[in-house]
Amino acid sequence: MNRIILGDNLDVLPTLPDAGVQLIYIDPPFNTGRRQERRRLRTLRDEARGDRTGFRGRRYRSEEVGRAGFADAFADFPAFLEPRLRQARRILDARGSLFLHLDPREVHYCKVMLDGIFGRSSFMNEIIWAYDYGGRSRRRWPAKHDNILWYAKDPRRYTFHYEAIDRVPYMAPGLVGPEKAARGKTPTDVWWQTIVPTNSAERTGYPTQKPLAILARIVRVHSDPGDCLCDFFAGSGTLGEAAARAGREFLLVDCDPAAAALMARRLAFARPRCIGFRPDGES
Ligand SMILES: C[S@@+](CC[C@H](N)C(=O)[O-])C[C@H]1O[C@@H](n2cnc3c(N)ncnc32)[C@H](O)[C@@H]1O
Repeated sequence: MNRIILGDNLDVLPTLPDAGVQLIYIDPPFNTGRRQERRRLRTLRDEARGDRTGFRGRRYRSEEVGRAGFADAFADFPAFLEPRLRQARRILDARGSLFLHLDPREVHYCKVMLDGIFGRSSFMNEIIWAYDYGGRSRRRWPAKHDNILWYAKDPRRYTFHYEAIDRVPYMAPGLVGPEKAARGKTPTDVWWQTIVPTNSAERTGYPTQKPLAILARIVRVHSDPGDCLCDFFAGSGTLGEAAARAGREFLLVDCDPAAAALMARRLAFARPRCIGFRPDGES
């Protein structure tokens, strides 16, 4: 059954049974020290008070219809994450995997912590999600990647569907012959993928929304149809969308009422049960 739960994940996780989910992807706050916030705007036609001119000379203005966001500053980020990661291991199925999405400032502390919780041999990959967007520093190399740590609960037995990996173009197709060039190659642990473009249909307006293509690849390769997939820092529910579209079930948790309401709208096609809030926006 698909579920969206409004609540602190540290309250929700202990209520979940042992070994009940086959894949966990989490993208917690990155401890940037700032509040992550985005205003949701609607455009209105307003001849009297419009502040800009659009199609056929008509006047338009924007009106704020809500805000979504979350605090992203922690005195001790590893201490915040550790009990949640311990719960993650407990609720994972024997063949299950955890994907922890971070950025280069916190990832090393969390790698050491996860080695302690899962065991070093459970570390499978550090996936680099590389993008190329936004400002470029002139004082150091512009930081244009995130880090996704993959841990298998059991490093000898885990779900990994090689045949479900999508193919990407060769960098030098002229060196491999036309047949191989047309087929493309499987990606390495460096995944090039643009961020969710501001004007794309995929954009929900939630800050820090991750691209569906990244989550879709993880879901296809690391789970089976019918599996239960969990994201307990769910935000706009990108994992839920990737799961539902691939025939998997989702269990999503977030403590932000605006995120829960947004997920309920985004994932209405998958008929989720909403727990702790009303999908019409009332808690
Ligand atoms: C980086 S965002 C996730 C974005 C998501 N991957 C997406 O694609 O939209 C992190 C989310 O964690 C949520 N969060 C932070 N602390 C939490 C907690 N203790 N329990 C549940 N959710 C929490 C925030 O409200 C925020 O929505």
